[in-house]
Amino acid sequence: MKKVNSLKGKIKVPGDKSISHRGIMFGSISEGITELDGFLNGADCISTMNCFKHMGINISHENEHVIIHGKGLHGLNAPLETLDVGNSGTTTRLISGILSGQTFSSTLNGDASIQARPMKRIMTPLRLMGADIVSEKNNDCAPLLISPVKQGLKGIHYDSPVASAQVKSCILLAGLYADDKTTVTEPVLSRNHTELMLRGFGADVTSKGTTATIAPNPSLSGQKIFVPGDISSAAYFIVAGAICQHSDLLIENVNTNPTRAGIISVALSMGASLELLNKRNVSGEEVCDLHVKTSDLHGCEIKGDIIPTLIDEIPIICVMAACAKGDTIISDASELKVKESNRIDTVIENLKAMGVSCEAKEDGMIIHGQSNEKGHDFFYGAQIKTYMDHRIAMSFAIASLCATGETTLDHPECVDISYPEFYKTLTSISNK
Ligand code: S3P
Repeated sequence: MKKVNSLKGKIKVPGDKSISHRGIMFGSISEGITELDGFLNGADCISTMNCFKHMGINISHENEHVIIHGKGLHGLNAPLETLDVGNSGTTTRLISGILSGQTFSSTLNGDASIQARPMKRIMTPLRLMGADIVSEKNNDCAPLLISPVKQGLKGIHYDSPVASAQVKSCILLAGLYADDKTTVTEPVLSRNHTELMLRGFGADVTSKGTTATIAPNPSLSGQKIFVPGDISSAAYFIVAGAICQHSDLLIENVNTNPTRAGIISVALSMGASLELLNKRNVSGEEVCDLHVKTSDLHGCEIKGDIIPTLIDEIPIICVMAACAKGDTIISDASELKVKESNRIDTVIENLKAMGVSCEAKEDGMIIHGQSNEKGHDFFYGAQIKTYMDHRIAMSFAIASLCATGETTLDHPECVDISYPEFYKTLTSISNK
């Protein structure tokens, strides 16, 4: 991959990953048909789809259109084999909440990355609800074995030590099968797609501040859902448009739910030329078109309550920070260590390989922007180690657009997890 002269055009990014996962899950445990338009055909969401097919749910799938024949809260069949969650933390953690309420046993397992990711964060609250969930290797990671409990699940109030939508959603989904109300309080509000969508499917979910409450045993009914474009995928093009010379991009149909859109506030506070156009509401989610142009950027401090709203975008924000004047300091983001790779280490290692001056911190990183003081050439081409992490691959593919010399990625295909069309879209707007 090489430097570009300009980026110009109009693009659409694929459907939101979080909403696509939830659409399959909630549709499967609802009565009747759920239809998803704009479904993300990424490997993670296909893992979720296959898990429910293995539990007897009839799902037809053509391009971005999915039809799920839901069988209700108690309609899943016992899977005949281990459910394969692939690389997907969202599949593993959310499905565990549903499986804990079933009358059959199940085992979940996935790739090497998933077998190293922390599952104690869901095992602890699920066990407080009475669930029988064990880590097969006794290391609090997958494979996870979930067995039925005769007495059923108990409603609880859980004070989550971590702001995680996967943890919150797991507990709320288990709450559908409990004997009483279940409440989760987070230290900081995480993405709220589960609360918004479950309410649409007919669940009694209420939210107040950082607390969400669900009542058990509703009758969920199938829905038609328009999945908006994923802001986490749009993020690569927001930054590309801002850091590349002579750029002018329109990114259409992006989900700008405030619990997800922290990158927009950060880009604006760093001086990005970014406009939000045509704000509308689609299936209960805020959606906009984003117009971004080449920008004069300066560093900023990113910490506190905004972190969960941009946690997946920090690798690409670091690329933007490397092109900005001055330092960018990211704190309160130690969750980065337990993503698909340790993203504090993998971002810093690769930025350094490209010649950027930066440092890892215990809870984030410091990027010394424009450290190569050579016009727009803030990066040198390098061999990027992706660690099979899709967000690392895409972030450094964008960095290469401003780099002197050639950049190679060791596993470019790992973008298939969330954005199979990434390189095609990038090529369509790049002028060499
Ligand atoms: C997600 C929640 C976030 C995010 C992940 C998707 C979700 O994870 O990083 O990509 O769909 O609920 P955490 O809950 O671990 O913060």
